[in-house]
Amino acid sequence: MSTIPSEKIDQVRNASDIVDIISGYLSLRPRGKNLFGLCPFHHEKTPSFSVNPELQIFRCFGCGAGGNVFTFIMRIEKLTFPESVKFLAKNAGIEIAEDETQIENLREKEALYYANKFAAAFFKHTLLEEAKAEQAREYLAKRGIDRSMIDRYDIGYAPDQWDGLIKWANQKSLSIDVLKKAGLIIHKEETDSYYDRFRGRITFAIHNAGGQVVAFGARRIIDDKTPKYINSPETEIYQKRQTLYGLYWARDAIRKQNHVVVVEGYTDLTSLGKVGIEQVVATSGTSLTEDHARLMRRYTTVAILLFDSDSAGAAAALRGADILLESGFEVKIATMPAGEDPDEFAREHGANAVQVLLKSAKPLLDFRVERLQSPELSQNSVQRSQATRELLATVARIHDPIQRSFVVQDLANRLHVDENVLWREMPHVRPQRRIATDQETPDDTHDPYLKSRRGRAEMMLIKVMLLHPLLAASIMSVITYEHFRHPEIQQLFQSMEQEILMDGGFDAQSHIHKIQTLQLAEYLVDDMGEKKEELSKKIAVDCIITLYDSQLDDEIKSLREQLKEFPERGSEITNKINELHRKKSILLSREKLNEKALFGS
Ligand code: GTP
Ligand code: MN
Repeated sequence: MSTIPSEKIDQVRNASDIVDIISGYLSLRPRGKNLFGLCPFHHEKTPSFSVNPELQIFRCFGCGAGGNVFTFIMRIEKLTFPESVKFLAKNAGIEIAEDETQIENLREKEALYYANKFAAAFFKHTLLEEAKAEQAREYLAKRGIDRSMIDRYDIGYAPDQWDGLIKWANQKSLSIDVLKKAGLIIHKEETDSYYDRFRGRITFAIHNAGGQVVAFGARRIIDDKTPKYINSPETEIYQKRQTLYGLYWARDAIRKQNHVVVVEGYTDLTSLGKVGIEQVVATSGTSLTEDHARLMRRYTTVAILLFDSDSAGAAAALRGADILLESGFEVKIATMPAGEDPDEFAREHGANAVQVLLKSAKPLLDFRVERLQSPELSQNSVQRSQATRELLATVARIHDPIQRSFVVQDLANRLHVDENVLWREMPHVRPQRRIATDQETPDDTHDPYLKSRRGRAEMMLIKVMLLHPLLAASIMSVITYEHFRHPEIQQLFQSMEQEILMDGGFDAQSHIHKIQTLQLAEYLVDDMGEKKEELSKKIAVDCIITLYDSQLDDEIKSLREQLKEFPERGSEITNKINELHRKKSILLSREKLNEKALFGS
């Protein structure tokens, strides 16, 4: 369970109105005292997803999803509970630090975010306002990057001087030290002085998934001998392997389209965005990593790779494709006409042509097979067998063994190769590492214990208690926290008990909001509005009997074990076991425990 202090969790919850948060993902219309929208967790045409602003809970009558603001974020962003708290904290501008070292760390990170934001503003100001940016403005105009894209993508210009940013920072009293840590300026040993890293370049601000600027990519505007692009170095807040250019802007579109388009360059992404294709991320020169795949998997499991048709582009695309495949993506490849990149293609041919290109994207395996059948390859047997191995490596990454065997059959036919040859080669090309795709996405929806008879009884009983504080008090006189096995329910019971003892009652809502297990939250908010007291009493009695009964089973089980261990105490232990069995049958015939005994009349 989380190490975030509970006051912090409360603070975040109070700052996160469930209607505001959910409205960021779907549109909600008021109906009665609730709001309704199309459920983001299953496909539907008429809204059955409701949000109750008063109780701060959501519930889908179509698929049964339901819970509090944290479990909503857990589900939709595929996060763990602590991650969802941090996610909402960031959203609300609340800092979360768990201990002193982290506080220090946090301050440092905040400073780095600040420096990058500061630099982005400086670059943009320079581009838009300064005379010395004339050439940069002409360059952008020539490339079709207009004012709206400059705003949307945080584009700027680093002036062609050694101390543009440094001077500006001095004026605004931002420390040199922070600029240096952010990689925005470089230390010169000989003179022990500093100079701007980015000079005379168009700057593309790189945002993290939360929308903060963490680095820059900067393109030269004249064709000198310097590298076409230079980047911020890696820092505490920027790791190339974990950052995808454009993901922050693309999230909603990716979710809506249920696929992500992966390109290589900054300008590929901005030009696609200009024609309205927004479900795009760019690897910006680095190769795709497992971390990138994990980031994208929060939003979709279908990826279309859109790369230059040149062979370097294709090779990079295919490497990335295998990583995505292994991370559980359905991968397709779309190829550009020779000599064009997505940026030029979008600008020249427009949105429709891009759509056609994306629609015609080929499944990774088909793409590989076709490459194998291309005329150049069929001439060259060395290249051909190399390509066949690469193809097999892709096949080896298919998780489902049945699907894999179909694919091998199919390949053997298409390549006119004996199926057995392919199978024999397979172990040699099998990828070494396997990513544990399941453990990355927390899935608390299927806590098997909560499906068991005992788990259900715990869940139902705690719900009755939440709904009826008066019954809760009676129930607490016959049940203790030790009757519960589920750690979260146990904890819930204890904190309710404490509140009842101290204040004579409790605030059910505040307890519901603490729940971290999706399945439990879902169950508890179901029909939360209705309070059928009579029914609840019956349910409570049934649950209590089940819990008593389970406890007796536990005791019997442990006595049986003792029996094996201490045969010399055989008759004593057997007597105890018989006694417990007698208790069980009395319990089950409800002679001792009935509603009257428990709740009075
Ligand atoms: P434009 O020429 O501005 O259209 O860029 P591009 O995106 O078409 O460039 P290209 O296809 O050559 O490269 C794709 C991506 O690789 C770029 O967007 C950069 O992120 C990165 N890249 C290209 N050249 C360099 C370089 O010289 N250094 C570094 N660090 N990255 C580069
Ligand atoms: Mn280009």
